[in-house]
Amino acid sequence: MKEQIAAIQTEALARISAAEDERMLEDARVAVLGKKGSLTLAAAGIKDVPKEEKAAVGQLLNAARTEITAALESKQLALREIADRAALAGIDPTLPGRPILTGALHPLTQIRDEAIRILRRMGFALADGPEIEDEFHCFDALNTPADHPARNEKDTFYFDSGKLLRTHTSSVQIRTMESATPPVRIIAPGSAYRRDEIDATHLSVFNQLEGLYVAEDVSLPDLKGTLEYFLRELFGTSTEVRFRPHFFPFTEPSFEIDVKLQVKGQAPRWIEVAGCGMVDPAVFDSINKGRKDDAFNPDKVTGFAFGMGLDRLAMIRWGIKDIRLLIENDVRFLKQFA
Ligand code: PHE
Repeated sequence: MKEQIAAIQTEALARISAAEDERMLEDARVAVLGKKGSLTLAAAGIKDVPKEEKAAVGQLLNAARTEITAALESKQLALREIADRAALAGIDPTLPGRPILTGALHPLTQIRDEAIRILRRMGFALADGPEIEDEFHCFDALNTPADHPARNEKDTFYFDSGKLLRTHTSSVQIRTMESATPPVRIIAPGSAYRRDEIDATHLSVFNQLEGLYVAEDVSLPDLKGTLEYFLRELFGTSTEVRFRPHFFPFTEPSFEIDVKLQVKGQAPRWIEVAGCGMVDPAVFDSINKGRKDDAFNPDKVTGFAFGMGLDRLAMIRWGIKDIRLLIENDVRFLKQFA
């Protein structure tokens, strides 16, 4: 028995040291220590060993198992190291890793999303309409007479068909009222187009956010409160907001809204951010005529509307001095908003 154990041990150690890969090593392990392995079977024979030798044979068996197990483990480590080295051949693991580049939202997207979030909290739902509009939705239904300067070819992009690129998002007010019934409380962010000379504060494509609230008893204080709250949420609770009388064909009374802002190192100054007003009853009349009903009866419902320039809001928020930066996609500029 003792010789048998010694022979098993010698053979096992030889096979382990000759193993060329983990597969061969595993085969060697199973052949000795597996259920039907040579050492396992030999150990089963201990019941036939005379009593007085049992202890010595047991010790030998244990020693053999310990040594074989240790040989298996160290051979496995050695084989893994060889495999790792082969896998890394030709690769320099000391080189710095490649950074994972993360993108970020464009500042216009950020300010638009934030504006939407604030207004949705106040109960405004999203609405939209086409950017290629007709004169009716862009002007006539908004009480804008044919000789109004905004309708001039010099100010508006017209197609040969007579359609045009909408000059403001106010057309969505009309499209919404054509199909909804009061109460109506919507916002419509989107592009608007004007034939402006392009400079640091003007582009021919810009972004607006329109708002419309029509219900019973909507009043001027509702308009003021809503927009003051909105602008203070956006620019900080202590932001001063001013309503300056103005004229729009589709609202009466009408206002322009300024916020007072302090740009670093400069005296605080008023900056215009939006136009607004109470929906002119003439607009309701036109809607009712088109719908052939009385859903927007000016004796029963009132409303306010507002439109603001999202590009302008972004420029104010981040102190951007040239609107053209917003469309140039210069990564050095965009990175600052990541
Ligand atoms: N549409 C106007 C503009 O583009 C803004 C406005 C919207 C004014 C709604 C009043 C009400 O200047």
